[in-house]
Amino acid sequence: MDSSSRLRGLLRARGPEWPAPIEYLESAGSTNDVLKGRAREGAAEWSVVIAARQTAGRGRHGRVWISAPGNLYLSVLLRPALPRESLGVLPLAAGLAVCRAVSEFGVAAELKWPNDVLVRGRKLAGVLVEATSAGRGIESAVVGIGINVGLVPEELPPEDAERVTSIAAETGAVAETLGVASAVLARLSVCYDALAREGPAAVVQAWLRHAVTWWGRPVEVRGDGYTLRGIARGVDEGGALLVEDAAGHLVPVLSGEVSALRLSQP
Ligand code: BTN
Repeated sequence: MDSSSRLRGLLRARGPEWPAPIEYLESAGSTNDVLKGRAREGAAEWSVVIAARQTAGRGRHGRVWISAPGNLYLSVLLRPALPRESLGVLPLAAGLAVCRAVSEFGVAAELKWPNDVLVRGRKLAGVLVEATSAGRGIESAVVGIGINVGLVPEELPPEDAERVTSIAAETGAVAETLGVASAVLARLSVCYDALAREGPAAVVQAWLRHAVTWWGRPVEVRGDGYTLRGIARGVDEGGALLVEDAAGHLVPVLSGEVSALRLSQP
């Protein structure tokens, strides 16, 4: 059986027939790019592209996402009926789906705004959402998900080895990537239903239950051309991080890299 039929079968075993094409590639530049091309050709919502390896995998802020075989590289197409201001909730929904999916494989992960899935501070997975808008709404959103499944951190350069982990490193067992993919897709569809039925606030509340607990603590956010220091206060309905600045104003942060500061840090 080919891999896309196997994934379709795994999804069928968990619920209704997957509603759109599933394309499995032995190698892709970036699954997000392949799926963006399919979206331009009118691909249906929930179309999936999955690759055994990527040669030009991308992370946020233009970073390289190293994509050797043995891990999961997956993109799924959504066409959400959301205003553009709510786009920031999609990475949260995807992160939540990943967190719930990996728990099925014995991994207790935490979520770090906006898109990191961590175990004891080490990166297990990341989410890259790339959207096109139409008027005040969103035309399409390609949700790219990378999960370290079989990765052996010790095989990476030392500076990377201590920052990453994988399902195999956490559990001592190598999970089937297609099994992880089916768990992620099934969980994403539940999160997306909740988003449509209950609205962004419900997804944000669920996300917060799995988030690193740094609310009320000092943080630093580094974005394109700015650095903001303040107290992390929460996440709003649009998925923006709320940081209280020195003047006591609540600043909604839409994108950036956030890190917790020690109280004594200047
Ligand atoms: C990040 O944490 O910076 C996001 C990483 C996202 C990686 C995934 S792998 C599948 C999809 N294709 C890509 O090129 N990137 C995403």
